[in-house]
Amino acid sequence: MPSAPSDLTSPAPAPARAVRELGTESAFAVLARATELERQGREIIHLEIGEPDFPTPPHICEAAFAAVRSGETHYCPSAGLAEFRAVIAAELSRTRGITIPVERVLVGNGAKPFLFFTILTVCERGDEVIYPDPGFPIYASAIRWAGGTPVPLPLREDREFSFDPEELGARLSRRTKLIILNSPNNPTGGVIAARALEAAAELISRTSAWVLSDEVYSRLLYADSFASIAAVPGMLERTVLLDGLSKTYAMTGWRCGYAAVPEPLVEPLTRFFVNSTSCVPPFIQRAGIAALEGPQDSVAAMLEEFRARREIVVDGLRELPGVTCRSPSGAFYAFPNVGALTLPAEALAPRLLDEAGVAVLAGADFGAQGAGYLRLSYANSRANLTAALARMRELLSTL
Ligand SMILES: Cc1ncc(COP(=O)(O)O)c(C=O)c1O
Repeated sequence: MPSAPSDLTSPAPAPARAVRELGTESAFAVLARATELERQGREIIHLEIGEPDFPTPPHICEAAFAAVRSGETHYCPSAGLAEFRAVIAAELSRTRGITIPVERVLVGNGAKPFLFFTILTVCERGDEVIYPDPGFPIYASAIRWAGGTPVPLPLREDREFSFDPEELGARLSRRTKLIILNSPNNPTGGVIAARALEAAAELISRTSAWVLSDEVYSRLLYADSFASIAAVPGMLERTVLLDGLSKTYAMTGWRCGYAAVPEPLVEPLTRFFVNSTSCVPPFIQRAGIAALEGPQDSVAAMLEEFRARREIVVDGLRELPGVTCRSPSGAFYAFPNVGALTLPAEALAPRLLDEAGVAVLAGADFGAQGAGYLRLSYANSRANLTAALARMRELLSTL
């Protein structure tokens, strides 16, 4: 037997302490609980998980199958296939009204790795990162993991869940390294108006901070008022403009996102991909080309269906006693205010699951400003949404 050094103590192996800094997404925890209830024979309506309930359009799947058959099943460049990067550059340039050079486009395994790697690329220990509250929980998780200080920027219901530029100004400091914006927003469905983006750009241009503009819901918009901060003159040079295939083309499981990034971040971000995921499979990228270049009627049809469901959900929620609800301008989330109920939202959400079989998330899972709200994903059938509202009404009547 090989001998171990005599001074080795032997506690059980343990994860690094820093792992505690990693947060999670409550959607996955609630999904696990809901699935467990289903295993026990309960019938659950899923309004917790944030993904389109539509199949990936057939022409996109066919492009992937063809690429697999033709042997595109090996490593490829970490930054992405040249052809896909060119298609993305054209798409982002066209939809945002700016000119994005192909060399500034990177492809990643979903939008999520860009969140993590951008924060790790720009943030030193003690640096401050401003992020939306309520907001996608991965932002604060990644900021903490990077050793940064998360600085929440409140999204206000009376501003249609946008931010007050004055409040942004008050949070900017010499230590601000990055400002994260998300429009349309998860969990509120709010969209940031061009005016607010211009005011934010004016403030940010006086700092040396980068911007991460998470625009993964850019095509899921009910009013045609979408604007990107990257289009404000001078901002593209400091903005990581993030989008992807997951939401627009019902491709969450394909894991493919992309970003236009400032020139100084191209090489460091590519190095993160080299060190971690190596590349997005080339046959997935071929599917991405088909998605962006092919017919867009499936996107339009999905959006129309979401629009109809939005009416059902918002009208239904407004009819519940003690509940108010803004009509979301984008994405597929309703964020009703349940603060007037006797039961706090954080207690109501698990009761809705356990007693009514309706899986929803508590707004507080998305930050302190989310307290008093619920998040409902309406990526579910009209029949299920109607049934869920009836079940909610019944439970609320017992409170
Ligand atoms: C705001 C926001 N950004 C990023 C993502 C992650 O997207 P992807 O599936 O492309 O990693 C999500 C997914 O829910 C999201 O809501």
